[in-house]
Formats: sequence, C-alpha cells, structure tokens
Amino acid sequence: MPPSQISPSLIATLPGHYYTDPDVFRQEQENLFESLWFCAVRSADLDRPGAFRTVQVGRENIVVTRTRTGELRAFLNVCRHRGARLCTEESGEVRRSLQCPYHAWTYDLDGTLIAAPNLIKMPDVDRVAYGLIKVALREWLGYAWVCLADEPPSFEDTVMHAAVERLGDAAAIEHYGTERLALGKRVTYDVKANWKLIVENFMECYHCATIHPELTEVLPEFADGYAAQYYVGHGAEFGEGIRGFTVDGSAGFGRLPEVTADQDRRYYAITIKPTVFVNLVPDHVILHRMFPLAEDRTVVECDWLYAPEVVASGADVSKSVELFHRVNVQDFEACERTQPAMASRAYRGGGVLVPNEHHIGIFHEWLLAGLGETHA
Ligand code: FES
Ligand SMILES: [Fe+2]
Repeated sequence: MPPSQISPSLIATLPGHYYTDPDVFRQEQENLFESLWFCAVRSADLDRPGAFRTVQVGRENIVVTRTRTGELRAFLNVCRHRGARLCTEESGEVRRSLQCPYHAWTYDLDGTLIAAPNLIKMPDVDRVAYGLIKVALREWLGYAWVCLADEPPSFEDTVMHAAVERLGDAAAIEHYGTERLALGKRVTYDVKANWKLIVENFMECYHCATIHPELTEVLPEFADGYAAQYYVGHGAEFGEGIRGFTVDGSAGFGRLPEVTADQDRRYYAITIKPTVFVNLVPDHVILHRMFPLAEDRTVVECDWLYAPEVVASGADVSKSVELFHRVNVQDFEACERTQPAMASRAYRGGGVLVPNEHHIGIFHEWLLAGLGETHA
C-alpha cells in the first residue's frame, strides 16, 4: 500500500505514536533489529585475540570477540549456567577466555565451555552444547554485522544492495576501500529521539538550507533542498573554490587511491536500513551506526575513517571532523526538537512530506512491511 497521498504535493508521514509507543518499539526490536543484519562493531576495534566489545542489538546484549586464530565471533552475552551477563564492560581484553563473574564458568574465545568449578566431577556435561550461543556474523566495510535470526536474510540483498541501489553500480563503494581505512575520530552521540526520526532526517535535505550553513557552503546544491538519496548515482558536487570536505572548505587529504575521477569532488550518502549511514567523500568515509535503546533514545556512534598513512602521520583531521560533527549536532538537535511533539495531539495523524521528501515514503513502506502492517 503506497503512503497516502493528501494532495499532489503532500503525502502523509507515519502517525505520531510510531515514534512514542513502546509496543511499536518492541515490535521493531523483534522484527527489525533482531531479525535483520545489524552493524555492531568496527572490526579493527578488536585488534587482537581476546579483545571484546558488547553491544545492544534489539533486546539482546551481544559480545563480539576476536579468537586466538584471528576471526571475529559473536555470542549472546549470557552465561549458560544461570544466565548472568558474562561481559559486563562495554569493551575490554581478556587473555584467553571469558569468565562469568557469578560462579566462574569459563568459555574460550570460540564460545566453548572450558572450565567451571567442579566440572571435572560432571563428565556428562557437553562443553560444546553448554558453550555460548553463537550469533551470525559477517564483515563488510571493516565492520562486523551480526544477525540474531535463526535464518539470516541474504547479506547481499539486504545490506550490500543498499550501496548498489544508491550508487548505481556495485563497484562504486569498493573504490573507497573502507575496510582498509583507519579511524581518525569517533564521536558518540546520545540522542533523545526515536531512531526513525534520525533516518528520516538523514534521507532528506529540505532542512539543509535552514540548519546546515557549513555543509551548504561546501555542497551548494544542498541549499536547494536537493534529495541526496533520491537520484541514483548522483553525488553532490563541491562548490567552486571548495578545496576539501572540511568545515571551512580548506584542502583535505589526497584522494583515496581507487576513487575515480567522477567520484572526485563529490559527496555520496547511503542509508543502509535500519541503522547505518555511510558518507563517501574523496579523502575519507564517515560511517554512522545507530543503537536504538528506547522509543525516545538512540545512541549514534560516528566514525571518521582516513587512509592509514594519514592517521599514522598524525595529520590534523579536525577540519574535516568538524564539518560533519556540526552536521550531526545540527541534525540531532532537530530530531530532539521533534521527538516531544510526536506525542502531541497536533501530531496524532502525523505530518506531511513535501515533494523533496516523498522518497521517505519508501522508508515508511519498508518499515510497515517489516512490522507486518500494510498501512499506518
Ligand atoms: S551464572 Fe555464570 S557461572 Fe553461574
Ligand atoms: Fe541534516
């Protein structure tokens, strides 16, 4: 069912309760975050065996570890004995095993139960069967994506395809070599807004002229409310006199080695539903990962990624970080300003999308299909 058309210019958004109702959020946790591929951690954050990180995926806490043989593994962060949370820290490093802080059941980095008080006296306990419960994991763009579904959907169709659909060509994203880049800066934002407001905001540039003075200076076509997500293959071009994707238009770093001439001096934004945004510019990549924690709270981790030699040289990346950091703050403030109004009687029936925003209707259709509904 297409989103309802109010007039030729206007189509309806979702009603306000979609952004405030705990039952809707619970359904999204189950049907989306716990069913689709979810971008969990940056692979290089777990840079050696024993490194781990815990993340919230829907209603589950997941621990991602690097094994002694160098692979990444993901597990439900729940001890098989009596259910204590196994890793209580957000990140850390163990020598060779994960030990439950309750009764000391101990698991190797592959999840197998390897020790427990008196385990020797319980020879019938199957150490694999009582190992940690594995979660599917794929690596792409230098990130570990996990999927809690018993039968994960096709990674190619549901994740990688977003880049093909947006850039019009499967190879285009590969030119940025994102998995080989190094972390120049990470900023974590705790946003008091529903995750869908953040997605919708990212998908439209109708607001750019109002709230993003620095960005529209660099990308003048954004000042016209141009819909960055809408035109397949199109990247917004840097303005004349703009030397780099930086807060003052000053030069950035050299073009990443495989970025092509037609990708040069352009910005591409990709939304990988449900929780990832990828921003491509010639000399760096900015990747947002959202962690929706409640109907009105979303933590966003934003990574600025550069050529390894740029980071290794200690070059000052602050001018390019500052540009998108400002954009983030401007966007998230707008989302936080919107969130309380979602509960207002003024918004019971929702708001409207103008033509430059109509493509957000595609996101709403996708969402409703995921929730098993055909109509808001
Ligand atoms: S709950 Fe983990 S060892 Fe008992
Ligand atoms: Fe914005």
